[in-house]
Amino acid sequence: MSLPSIIAVDGPAGSGKSTISHQLAERYGYLFIDTGIFYRTMTLVALRAGIPFSNTDALTTLTENTHIDIISQNDDPTHPYAVFVEGEDVTNQIRTPQVEASVSALSAIGSVRAALVEQQRRIAAKGNIIMAGRDIGTVVLPHADVKLYIDASIQERARRRFQERVSQGQSANLAEIEAAMVQRDRVDSEREVSPLRQAKDAIYISTDNKSIEQVLGEIGEKLEIWQPA
Ligand code: DC
Repeated sequence: MSLPSIIAVDGPAGSGKSTISHQLAERYGYLFIDTGIFYRTMTLVALRAGIPFSNTDALTTLTENTHIDIISQNDDPTHPYAVFVEGEDVTNQIRTPQVEASVSALSAIGSVRAALVEQQRRIAAKGNIIMAGRDIGTVVLPHADVKLYIDASIQERARRRFQERVSQGQSANLAEIEAAMVQRDRVDSEREVSPLRQAKDAIYISTDNKSIEQVLGEIGEKLEIWQPA
């Protein structure tokens, strides 16, 4: 069986793309990179530095000079990695509502994206990789061997994020989570630079009313019959 070496996965927040991508990577012994980490980490660093999101030059310089390290930690199924910035573990800090409220603003800046996309392409060039995000099939890796677009209804996605927060002992309000998600989806899909969009050649997978195993089975069947072009 010859598997695709570069797999691009896109979809909105809470669609299940990270969980699915992680499990596929485990199954095939591939590296999994969740590119949302880059945008979340830079948002945290910018907030801490007090740089306004209107100062695109300062944010771009900051991005170019910030070293982000992602270390696999396979025992956490939801966040199977630890994230370090200049040696500090920020794995939990990049998931706070404060970061989520600002991450779309940072993600809309073209020059910040360019700096991050360059890093992402360098990582992907090694192959045997599953890279997940919003613009992987359309911009970062347009020549990926296989592209998946993973989706779910807004109600289902908000419910999953609510349960994730509760299981981590955080306080959570379902209606607020859903409203914040609708807002983030809107900014992510309407921005001018690299909006969230299904690539023309992507396979569409809905995760509504399906178990993780069902979705993995569905994708596994497609990957295992894949033939190089
Ligand atoms: O997948 P996530 O929720 O961790 O992503 C956080 C934000 O980062 C998301 O709102 C949009 C942005 N993002 C992006 O613009 N491009 C990517 N490839 C990945 C994430």
